[in-house]
Formats: sequence, C-alpha cells, structure tokens
Amino acid sequence: MNDRLTRIRESEKNSHIETYSRENLYDKNSWLQKPIKTVRELIPLFSNYKELRVLDLGCGIGRNSICIAETYQNITCTVDCVDLLEIAIEKLNQSAKEYGVSEIINGIIKPIEEYEIRQDSYDLIMAISALEHIDSEESFIRKLSEIENGVRENGIVCLAINSNVRETNAKTKEPLEAQFEVNLPTEKLQLLLEDIFSDWRILKTGVAAQEYDIPRNGSISHLDTNVVTFVVQK
Ligand SMILES: C[S@@+](CC[C@H](N)C(=O)[O-])C[C@H]1O[C@@H](n2cnc3c(N)ncnc32)[C@H](O)[C@@H]1O
Repeated sequence: MNDRLTRIRESEKNSHIETYSRENLYDKNSWLQKPIKTVRELIPLFSNYKELRVLDLGCGIGRNSICIAETYQNITCTVDCVDLLEIAIEKLNQSAKEYGVSEIINGIIKPIEEYEIRQDSYDLIMAISALEHIDSEESFIRKLSEIENGVRENGIVCLAINSNVRETNAKTKEPLEAQFEVNLPTEKLQLLLEDIFSDWRILKTGVAAQEYDIPRNGSISHLDTNVVTFVVQK
C-alpha cells in the first residue's frame, strides 16, 4: 500500500468504527435508520423468485441486507455480506440473529478487492457507498467488470457511488484531502458505468448533490459529494 492509500484506509476505518460503536441498526436520527430508498424500491421485484442470491459489497452493519433477508426468508435465499471491518460483520450477525435471519445472512470479513465474484452467481449485487473505497481506479474498474459478469440473466446491479468529493474541516473550513480511495469526476464515473453496463436495461440513474458531516480522527469533516445512483438489469 502506498502512503496515500494507507492514510485514507486508516481514517476511513476509524470513521466507520466510531459510527458503528455508537449507533445500531435502525436507530432513529441515524443514517442507519432504514435501507436506502433505491433498495426499498428494488425489494418487491424478486417476489416471484423461488431462489434468490444476493451480494452486498461494503455492507456495513446490514442496513440494506437485513430487510431483504426478512422479506425473502420463506424462499431459498442467501445474502452474502462483505465488509473489511470486524465490528461491522459482528453487528450484522447480531442483527441477523435479532431479526431471525441468521440462516440467510452470510457475513464475510474481507476487502471487496479480495472477494471473488463468480460468473452468473447472483440475482442482485449491491454496493452502496462502498466501491469508492476500493484501493485504486484500476481495481475499481476490474471489480465493476466482475460485478457485470457475476449477475445472472435478468439480475440487477444497484450502485450508489460518491464522486467529486470535497472534504473540509467542519469547524475551520480548511480544505482537506478527501478520504476516498477512488474519487472520480462525476461525468467520468457516469460514462464508465454506462460503458461497462452498455447492453443492460437502465432501471434508475441519477446524480444527487449531498452534504454531510462525519467523524474523522477526533474532529469533524464536512463532505460535499455527488452521489451517482445506477441501477441496471441484465
Ligand atoms: C458508507 S459505509 C456504507 C455501508 C452500507 N453499504 C450501507 O449503506 O449502510 C461504507 C462501508 O464500506 C466498508 N468498506 C470500506 N472500504 C472497504 C473495502 N475496501 N472492502 C470492504 N468494505 C469496505 C466500510 O467498512 C463501511 O462499512
């Protein structure tokens, strides 16, 4: 790992460890309060399936996975949940127990870069605010191709990716290095996604300017970002 990557990875890890130590799944006034709207909209699309295979890359504590497992607990369903943080997978497993879906949720402590996605193995692959933390632009593009290849016919890919992220100290307004491993210009990211998934059906696409504060090594960072949402069907 080069210095930049080590620095970003460390601060990204600490920021999430701090949040996950403090907050629980579905806590009110937390970003973990409920699954994102795009995922909530997707859930009914699998209602006629007898078997469902889902992959959640950078799953965190299961905000988007647990409710899929709950919805489809009466069919053959597995939700593979990958995150590099032990605390995320511990809390995911706790919640899976609490919501009666331990048999369905499969927590995997691993960097996304190292998780091999086999060809035609999933009906849904989602990565919500996660792929921008892959270690380089090259492995980001490689992982997108693996995702493209890993979805079965009619399967869905659901991505939300931060782009053009600007980070400042929330108090002093001092500009800081954005702690995102892959921080692409918005348009470049959109073109890349359209190219990799060129013959897929677009179910939803858009860019939302968002700003929020996050803990960063003992202080608070303010983030301005363009979140690219991209949902496509094979
Ligand atoms: C912003 S959170 C989003 C979590 C979840 N997708 C959600 O929507 O609630 C990003 C997550 O990605 C994980 N993460 C960051 N870099 C990763 C990597 N290279 N491999 C696996 N997980 C990673 C973090 O630990 C964190 O849990």
